[in-house]
Amino acid sequence: MAEIGSDIVKAKAFLEQGEVVGIPTETVYGLAGNALNEDAILKIYAVKNRPKFDPLIAHTNSIEKIGDLVMDIPDKAMKLADRFWPGPLTILLKKNKHVPDLLTSGLDRIAIRIPKHPLSMDLLGSIDFPLAAPSANPFGYVSPTTAQHVNDQLGASIPYVLDGGPCNIGLESTIVGFENDEVVIYRLGGTKVESIEEVVGAVKIQVNESSNPAAPGMLKSHYSPGRKMIIGDIASNLNELAKESTGVLSFSKPFDVPDKNLAVLSPSGDIDEAARNIFSALRKMDQEHIKVILTEFVPKVGLGKAINDRLRRAAV
Ligand code: TXA
Ligand code: MG
Repeated sequence: MAEIGSDIVKAKAFLEQGEVVGIPTETVYGLAGNALNEDAILKIYAVKNRPKFDPLIAHTNSIEKIGDLVMDIPDKAMKLADRFWPGPLTILLKKNKHVPDLLTSGLDRIAIRIPKHPLSMDLLGSIDFPLAAPSANPFGYVSPTTAQHVNDQLGASIPYVLDGGPCNIGLESTIVGFENDEVVIYRLGGTKVESIEEVVGAVKIQVNESSNPAAPGMLKSHYSPGRKMIIGDIASNLNELAKESTGVLSFSKPFDVPDKNLAVLSPSGDIDEAARNIFSALRKMDQEHIKVILTEFVPKVGLGKAINDRLRRAAV
């Protein structure tokens, strides 16, 4: 198992040796390595068992440092950066030649984010390279929102997890890019569409629903808790099934199944709280005795759209 601690100097030393470590962010935990070191990037792909056609996000702690990685920062990107960084937004920008193709899977854009977490900001401030960091889960599984989640699944292959407590957004970053000056959202996430539109006007949402592995971005079947999952009216679906072997993942109301089979995202009906809890809830559903999971969509406001996106992908 990996060591879990909050020692930035230790994490820095591993990263400088080309090792990969777990790091906290406000969205989900990342599996971090030097984004400019091909060996470290290869380790990330290997530890996650992730195909190399699925590119990684580079994390830094300042806009100045991003200048070295990209050709230029268009006006709209700068406006979004000013408003949302540090925060749960990833921006795709034309990459510079010295950025390894392995990081971007050969694409001409690099994904960049400044995360809002004090430990990771301090860590990024103490090193002179950006950190490549995908979510710290095996490819295709639910993203981790605690250091323990990281250790449970990847602890055998990494030396250290920097523990920054539970993630306070709980969903991955929103990903935006630009096509002929139009702002395009490629992944719904921790920054609300409404908030982005306040800054740059109407955006196009082009969330990848493909299961074609050649298409970068999110694969359709993802976030799998490893069980058949049915989205719909929980009460009526529950009538047909044995309660002992049925998991229920509901928005705000409890249902009549054993406690160990039940996850309520937010008893008070708060969407942000539901976002914080969604990935732990999906993990709770991953138990041997649970054969079917019943769930329902949450209200489509704010982070609700991103939560529903994850539920849809988990149910494939
Ligand atoms: O909140 C987050 O974004 C977390 C934390 C750790 O920062 N990271 C994260 O990384 O969710 P990951 O690798 O699990 O998801 C990143 C997504 C992938 O679906 C990838 O295909 C897409 O971003 N992506 C990365 N670089 C890209 C690029 N150059 N062009 C298009 N999509 C890209
Ligand atoms: Mg991921």
